[in-house]
Parts: sequence; structure tokens; C-alpha cells
Amino acid sequence: MLRAIAFVLLLALAALPRPAAAQSGGELVVYCSVLNDWCLMMTQGFEKKTGAKVTMTQKGSGETIAQLRAEAANPKADIFYGGVGDQHLEAAEAGLTVEYKSPLLAELHPWARKQAEDSKYKTVGIYAGALGIVWNTEQLAKKNLPEPKCWADVIRPEFKNEVQMSNPSSSGTAYVALATLVQVMGEEPAFAYLKKLHANINQYTRSGPAPVRNAALGETTVGINFLHDAVAEAATGAKLKIAAPCEGTGYEIGSMSIVKGGKNPDNARKWYDWALTAEVQNQAKTVKSYQVPSNMKASAPEAMPRMADMKLIDFDHVKYSATAERKRIIARWEKEVGSLPK
Ligand code: F6P
Repeated sequence: MLRAIAFVLLLALAALPRPAAAQSGGELVVYCSVLNDWCLMMTQGFEKKTGAKVTMTQKGSGETIAQLRAEAANPKADIFYGGVGDQHLEAAEAGLTVEYKSPLLAELHPWARKQAEDSKYKTVGIYAGALGIVWNTEQLAKKNLPEPKCWADVIRPEFKNEVQMSNPSSSGTAYVALATLVQVMGEEPAFAYLKKLHANINQYTRSGPAPVRNAALGETTVGINFLHDAVAEAATGAKLKIAAPCEGTGYEIGSMSIVKGGKNPDNARKWYDWALTAEVQNQAKTVKSYQVPSNMKASAPEAMPRMADMKLIDFDHVKYSATAERKRIIARWEKEVGSLPK
């Protein structure tokens, strides 16, 4: 009789949900700065593959680096996944991330490997994407506005309150925009430009991709964005068109880093290698993430215009990701532009 009760008890215990730490594959904490659907797909994919329990938080790249800095004495995350590479180079410089040479490095495009070399292997490129201008074709026609194909068009007086971009304090996209304009025009003309642009801005959003969604909804006519976010939105029927600005434009090398002092370094390295495979990178486009993947065997979405056909600047990622330079440019923007009345 006692034996039978013990057996039933054992069966009941086996059926109880297990606490996370007891999962066969251990745990992993990911700070994720790509679109939420991609973050979720990665989280679920890794859990399925390894049996690990992944805890994921999605935030813009500027916010993630602020969090990593705040937690430096007691790190909570294992992986910083996605978001503009400048923030990952900054994290490397600040000693927030650790060196790791993935065996997958040999499969990556030279620009993704350069990101690793520039950081002494404390980060690596996982995708690339160009910055540009996006507009809602219906709103533009309704307001009888010309197609804004150049940076110079976006500051025309007829675009007053028609343009949206993100805030450089929270968004990596916006910082790439500032650094791009400084490199295209020179710093003084770029700040004169940004002041004029301020008059046309209806909102500085917290997240980088937000202006694309708002343009798709017709809540802003124009956005300053990474073009892949707009093309992905257009592929699902949004009335959006894009331009790589005629004067030249910048680009991001979206990156990934292992957090120093993370509690799950083995799983962090497993994630890192897995996320660099062509198989995993090819899945991004299935959840509306249209960046150019860094693995040479993975393919970019067909709807994306080729970056080779755009007038890209020779973006100095090392210079503009240095903490002092980034802080200086953002502080100047806040003082001279962001705080101006409208
Ligand atoms: O697709 C999402 C994306 O545009 C990435 O390509 C980019 O790295 C990230 O968002 C930047 O987000 P944020 O500007 O909010 O830091």
C-alpha cells in the first residue's frame, strides 16, 4: 500500500512544472535590440534547440547600453543581441563585454569581421542596414508634397511638422543619423541643418523603428529610419516609399556581444555561435526584419534595394562609437537642438 502511495506521489511530482534553473539546458538572459518579433523568434528557437530557459528584454540600443553601464557591478544579462554596432563598440571600450572568437567568424562578410577586429573580438556584426528617408505615399499626395529624396528636401519649409525621427539619447538609429549628417556635411553645417530639421519634426520617438510604423499608419508623412524597417513594412501592404539620400548616407552594422560577468557564459557562447549561422540568420526575414545578414551563406530579402547601389559614406564607426565622441555629439544635440522650442 505504502509503495503504491509513494509511486503515485512520484508521478504527481514529475508532472509539476520545473523551476527555470532546473531546466536541462540551464538559463540565458538576453538584452535584445532588434524588433520584438525577431527577439521572440530567437528566444523560442534557442530554447527549443538547447532546452535552456531564456529571459529576454527588448529595448533600443541606446537604452540597453545605459542599462549595461548601470548594472556593471552586478551584471544581469549574458548577451546583448542586435542594435546598432556603435553601441556595441562603445560597450567594448567601456569593458562591459568580453572577447570571444567564434568558429563561425570565417563565414561572415568582411564588414562583420571588421567589427570584431575593431573591438578586439568583443563584438561581431550580425547584420547591416542603410539609413534613409521613408514617406507615406498617400499622405504625400494628399498634402501635395514632393518626394523627399535628399537630406536637403526634408528641411524644406513645406515639410513643417511632417517629419519624425527618434531621439538620440535612447535610439541608436538617431545617433547614426547625427553621425551621418556630421560626416556628410561637416559638423557646423550639420548642426545648422539639425536646427532647421527641428522645425519640421512632429515628434522625437523613443525607439528607432517607431517612425516607420507611424508613417505606415499615416501619423507622420516622413520618417528618418533604417530603410530595411520601411521595406519590411511596405511588404505587408503599407503605402511607404524610401530613398537613400542623394547627398550620401550612413549605415549600421548591427552587432552582438557577450556581457562581462554574465552568469551563464557557456550558454552565451552557444547563443553567439548559433546566431551567426546562416540557418538562423535566414529566419529574420520571416518576421519582417529585412537587414542584410552577416553570414555570407545567408540571403538578404529580395525586396531590399542593394546597399551597393546606394551612395554610402565611408562611415567611421571607430571614431563615432568612442564614448567621448558619442557623448559630446548627443550633448551638443540636446543643448542646441532638442531643447529648442518648436
Ligand atoms: O529593425 C530594427 C532596427 O532598426 C535595427 O536594425 C537597429 O539596429 C535597431 O532597430 C535600432 O533601434 P534603436 O534605434 O531603437 O536603438
